[in-house]
Amino acid sequence: MYNEITLDIPMQEPKRQYYYMEKCRQCVRELEKERGHALKFFVRTFGCQMNARDSEKLRGILLQAGLEEGMDEEADFVLYNTCTVRDNANQKVYGHLGYLQTLKKKHPAMKIALCGCMMQEPAVVEKIKKSYGFVDLIFGTHNIYKLAELLYCCLTEKKMVVDVWDCAENVVEDLPAMRKYPFKSGVNIMYGCNNFCSYCIVPYVRGRERSRDPKEILAEIRRLALDGVKEIMLLGQNVNSYGKNLAKPMSFAELLRQVNEVEGIERIRFMTSHPKDLSDELIAAMRDCKKVCHHLHLPLQSGSSRILKVMNRHYTKEQYLDLAERIRAEIPDISLTTDIIVGFPGETEEDFQETLDVVRKIRYDSAFTFIYSKRTGTAAAAMENQVPEAVVKERFDRLLREVQQIAAEVCGRDVNTVQPVLVECENDHQPGFVSGRLGNNLLVHFPGDASLIGNIVPVKLTEAKGFYYIGKREKETEDGR
Ligand code: 5AD
Ligand code: SF4
Repeated sequence: MYNEITLDIPMQEPKRQYYYMEKCRQCVRELEKERGHALKFFVRTFGCQMNARDSEKLRGILLQAGLEEGMDEEADFVLYNTCTVRDNANQKVYGHLGYLQTLKKKHPAMKIALCGCMMQEPAVVEKIKKSYGFVDLIFGTHNIYKLAELLYCCLTEKKMVVDVWDCAENVVEDLPAMRKYPFKSGVNIMYGCNNFCSYCIVPYVRGRERSRDPKEILAEIRRLALDGVKEIMLLGQNVNSYGKNLAKPMSFAELLRQVNEVEGIERIRFMTSHPKDLSDELIAAMRDCKKVCHHLHLPLQSGSSRILKVMNRHYTKEQYLDLAERIRAEIPDISLTTDIIVGFPGETEEDFQETLDVVRKIRYDSAFTFIYSKRTGTAAAAMENQVPEAVVKERFDRLLREVQQIAAEVCGRDVNTVQPVLVECENDHQPGFVSGRLGNNLLVHFPGDASLIGNIVPVKLTEAKGFYYIGKREKETEDGR
């Protein structure tokens, strides 16, 4: 019955997807009559902010397709947006799939779908086909905009639907999105990565760099501002190379200056910056643009110039330190955070000491530390001198201790000052308290009620607690940043 297509199917996007959203709505209504309850969906996100933003788009499409959002996996349509940057991300998904299988035994009508980075790996798709035959739909990173069409297929067919593309055709704009927070949002400015750092699987699963048209980006940000968004996070695997492949090239610094002019937006963040492409022009733009938060995530990966070369990072330890110094000279209160990998093939104790040396010199506000994970297909996976697990673990623990101790010291530097805080939620642990974030992304808990959520308010930071502050609300001041 659902295969009867009465209208001509549009060929153009996103029109075609809106057509399928309508078809899904009809189909969902029929199923609801049959089952006697509203059809619910649930999207679980693994991985980074890019995936989180993709999930907001997936949720937007599912709502338009007539489903209601559920709270957990006890739903009619469960979608996992997966990550594959390190092997433990994959293992988490397989673990959850075991749980989904049990649920599906109880509710055979349930549909299970997987999408995202992990699905771009042919070996993963083969494994799911072979050992997880209860999965109903698999798609990748390049066709998430096609969810309505795929959902329609999945609702009307019995066999597993698999649609994974090797590369992206074009950027499809103007699809719905359902934000997690009403007051802040991610905004994709580019997709993919061209860098091929030798340990990283991202260029293989997210494809080549594609920048969005600045007009589309600005229009989206203006719409978000009108919809109550105060803080945006510009997203890309390597935002510093934004605009290079546009018909009319444009730098990230220029884009940042234009975004800074959008009325209603009060805070701008961005993620992630590759040190090799971070220009003085960008440092100046960050310094000049009042809305740009004084926070920079600048992945180091390793402090050893020798390892950085094998990682294909295109900078040395000295160049990185010099860059950090130039940034701090222009923006003295900048909060620097980073990513570090321990145990890259061939890493010696001397190389590791170089990493510790950079950590001590820079004194990061926080650092994400990762144990090197071998990813099939990357250049590093074929390297012979992999470091023994016990050695890596011991270095990892030493690095973590160093990073945490420094972060706790650095975090306290703003104690007794008054800072603008964007209030995000009521505090789960302490009734009568709310929690919000500073421009440098640190959490602050202070007395307040739900009416403050989504507002930027001045707060006196009365106590530093290592990774967060306790504060007290102050009277309004001029500077809302
Ligand atoms: N092993 C460990 N960490 C990795 N990252 C990327 N690939 C790997 C890998 N194979 C880390 C990098 C990157 C962050 C998002 O994940 O530090 O900056
Ligand atoms: Fe991976 Fe390097 Fe691209 Fe970042 S810049 S996504 S680490 S290849």
